[in-house]
Amino acid sequence: MTEAPEHRGFWDQLPRPFYILAPMADVTDNAFRRLITHCGKPDVFFTEFVSSDGLCSRGRERLLHHLSYTEDQHPIVAQMWGTNPETHYQTAQLLAELGFDGIDINMGCPVKNVCKTGGGSALIENPSLARELIEATRQGGSGLPVSVKTRIGYATIDLVRWVEDLLEAEPAAITLHMRTRKEMSRVPAHWELMPEAIKAAASSRTLVVGNGDIRDLDHADRLVAETGMDGAMLGRAVFGNPWLFSRRSCDAVTLRERFDTMLQHAVYFEQEFSSKKPFLLMRKHLMAHISGIAGSKDLRLRLGEVSTAADVRAALDWYTDTYGLDSSSSRIAG
Ligand SMILES: Cc1cc2nc3c(=O)[nH]c(=O)nc-3n(C[C@H](O)[C@H](O)[C@H](O)COP(=O)(O)O)c2cc1C
Repeated sequence: MTEAPEHRGFWDQLPRPFYILAPMADVTDNAFRRLITHCGKPDVFFTEFVSSDGLCSRGRERLLHHLSYTEDQHPIVAQMWGTNPETHYQTAQLLAELGFDGIDINMGCPVKNVCKTGGGSALIENPSLARELIEATRQGGSGLPVSVKTRIGYATIDLVRWVEDLLEAEPAAITLHMRTRKEMSRVPAHWELMPEAIKAAASSRTLVVGNGDIRDLDHADRLVAETGMDGAMLGRAVFGNPWLFSRRSCDAVTLRERFDTMLQHAVYFEQEFSSKKPFLLMRKHLMAHISGIAGSKDLRLRLGEVSTAADVRAALDWYTDTYGLDSSSSRIAG
């Protein structure tokens, strides 16, 4: 193995604790991250995961939109998944050329088709390959820090064994989604186990980041204080709350602001993906943006049919004409 870099790159420049927006496929794409940058930026962004085999195949062009980002999203980490050290090496070269600040290897995805290939969380059962992937990525990545996002076990909890296995390859950071693969998202995250991971990593230079069911930054701060982890990663809490990382309460957001934000999101989506992803994917975001507002049932029906940003504007104009837009909170019981 080549020697791990002495420094952890951008990870060393982060405040403590730091907050990361979790990678979420078909959610935290470039349009969504542009919106979040505008509403309240996390300390680190991750891209959605992308297959290293895919990026090294003739299908590369179709995948490149997963790796687009705007300059104001730095520091941004590209996440890849796969099982082939050679394609990890080549993908790491590409990611360095594209200007990413770090590279993360997905070792936590529970999806059957990914695990069947031996990738994602199946790597928890194959530590020697996991270490080879880290090493190949480090060699290809021209000194970019390499991190891992994973779970605390495959079929059963195997946290300390797995963390110790990963530490042998000296990743810059390990993000632990505090559930096993088998648990999917069905049980509460096992936060009580985080101190064991911190203890296992105590004599290493690897940062430990916790993930799973974190509601907001205050909740993250409590977990940091209780466990001693270096940072927190938040995912689903951002649905319908793009202000999550600003510490602003949703109740302080006016309806006008919420609608402007939704429209902005739709415009970003069109700008980024017009011929690459169906606008249909925006609809679930729009539903999340309007949850809990008065008259949202009728609005939901209209937004369920939109195909362009102009359609979104028309639906919001219809709502405004029908219900009015007062300056109070957008979360009106309804
Ligand atoms: C729709 C969706 C897509 C996801 N895609 C990814 C992904 O591409 N890479 C990854 O490492 N995790 C992915 N995850 C897992 C999240 O990053 C995170 O670990 C999980 O949602 C738990 O954190 P939370 O409770 O804060 O949401 C995804 C989760 C969701 C809900």
